[in-house]
Amino acid sequence: MVDQDAQRSVAAVVIMAAGAGTRMKSAVPKVLHRIAGRSMVGLAIDTADALSPEHLVVVVGHQRDQVTAHLAEIAPHVTIAVQEQPLGTGDAVRSGMAALPGITGEVVVTSGDVPLLAPETLVELVAAHRADGNAVTVLTSVVPDPTGYGRVVRDGDEVARIVEQRDASDAELALTEINSGIYVFDAATLAEGLEALEPKNAQGELYLTDVVAHARAAGRRVGARLIVDHLQTEGVNDRVQLAERAAELNRRILVHWMTEGVTVLDPATTWVHAGVDLAEDVTLLPNTSLEGATSVARGATIGPDTTLIDVEVGENARVLRTQAELAVIGPDTTVGPFTYLRPGTDLSAKAHVGAFVEMKKAVIGEGAKVPHLTYCGDAVVGAGSNIGAGTIFANYDGISKSTSTVGEHSFVGSDSVLVAPVHIADGAYVAAGSTITVDVGPGDLAVSRGQQRNIKGWVSRKRPGTRTAEAAAAALHETQGTGEMGSGE
Ligand code: UD1
Ligand code: CA
Repeated sequence: MVDQDAQRSVAAVVIMAAGAGTRMKSAVPKVLHRIAGRSMVGLAIDTADALSPEHLVVVVGHQRDQVTAHLAEIAPHVTIAVQEQPLGTGDAVRSGMAALPGITGEVVVTSGDVPLLAPETLVELVAAHRADGNAVTVLTSVVPDPTGYGRVVRDGDEVARIVEQRDASDAELALTEINSGIYVFDAATLAEGLEALEPKNAQGELYLTDVVAHARAAGRRVGARLIVDHLQTEGVNDRVQLAERAAELNRRILVHWMTEGVTVLDPATTWVHAGVDLAEDVTLLPNTSLEGATSVARGATIGPDTTLIDVEVGENARVLRTQAELAVIGPDTTVGPFTYLRPGTDLSAKAHVGAFVEMKKAVIGEGAKVPHLTYCGDAVVGAGSNIGAGTIFANYDGISKSTSTVGEHSFVGSDSVLVAPVHIADGAYVAAGSTITVDVGPGDLAVSRGQQRNIKGWVSRKRPGTRTAEAAAAALHETQGTGEMGSGE
């Protein structure tokens, strides 16, 4: 019975995201600024989803076209409500409630700019609201510097009212318990309170916080839940706070992964996005950034100086000083240093891709090696093949791109150019320095380069009196003197 009650979902969550965010000084709406690879409103939606609300409403206003387009992309399940004018948080929630006609039950209100709020905190807030039989429950915290926040005026274990910084007396300003701006309301209490709001305050706004005093005056119970981890309630108003919250969320993400068995050598320079998945015994070396939907399997070592965006790394792979995006790096592979893997790269098990190699749409077979200084675009390389230093897969003729293939256990000599589309069969050789424009059959050697010609005595005739000519003369004298190399022509 009690458990069922605890698991019952809330009627709605309303996320306020209509404010101007003036202090960000940005053409990008504040709630679209990113932390841990997610927009701040995206993080707020993830957190709200933990309550499985029947309705999830995001209130947009300032720069709403951008925000709406973003929401359509990342969270098509949310209902969008528009606040026409930024008349205050009370007006924002009024706009949100207008999208929820006749709603009953619990309405949770949060903000789109509180990125560290954990899903468990919202779940616990709702549980406390139910356990205490409250009409309103406010999430509060004690912060080192309460300046700018609404102060919580207590009446025993209830909240009498919330007073904003600019409306507070000196005695009220001395209070250190602040309103996080995150609440659970009984829907009817909220609707009545919103109805009664008046802009009678220093900012001339409609304050959502006034609903608290209204509920008390109507004889309803208003409780508070104080969260010790105050960083969860701290918002983002400018870019300094954006950086601080980003660093803190990253720290929390790393602590989570370290607890799950990941070694992080230097947490200060290691950045892991919220959507990343890491296995036990992964090691992250300094200056590593794992972004998007990157996953790393057991025993792999990443870094130093590596950025992986939407990359899948297999077990025991070693990825060193590499930039990669939308690539698959198979198990037991070695990549780097100084390797650039672009979208569509797929490295099979035990492949090796080395220094100054760039790949794009390249499928590299098991155990194949591309060790040095190569461009591998639109390429398929079979298992066990070796691509020599300086090879270029010339995939672009100025109009369109084509694919070249190299079969299994073939050998492409250094400084070759494979002009796509061209096919080199299994077990074939390409001589170093060749430009390949015609397919090469199995077991064949392709040689495509000028015949070498040595012109006898050229230096003594054309460069007499130089150090080169002296060196040549000395070398000739020596070989003739010993008689060891002077035979032949
Ligand atoms: C609000 C609270 C304050 C609390 C603080 C916590 C009120 C009156 N005050 O103050 O008690 O300590 O949050 O961070 O509620 N918004 C809209 N439309 C508006 C105005 C704001 O959608 O017209 C949104 C903002 O985008 C933001 C949230 O509401 O996501 C909070 O607005 P903000 O202006 O930052 O409120 P504070 O003055 O910080
Ligand atoms: Ca704020």
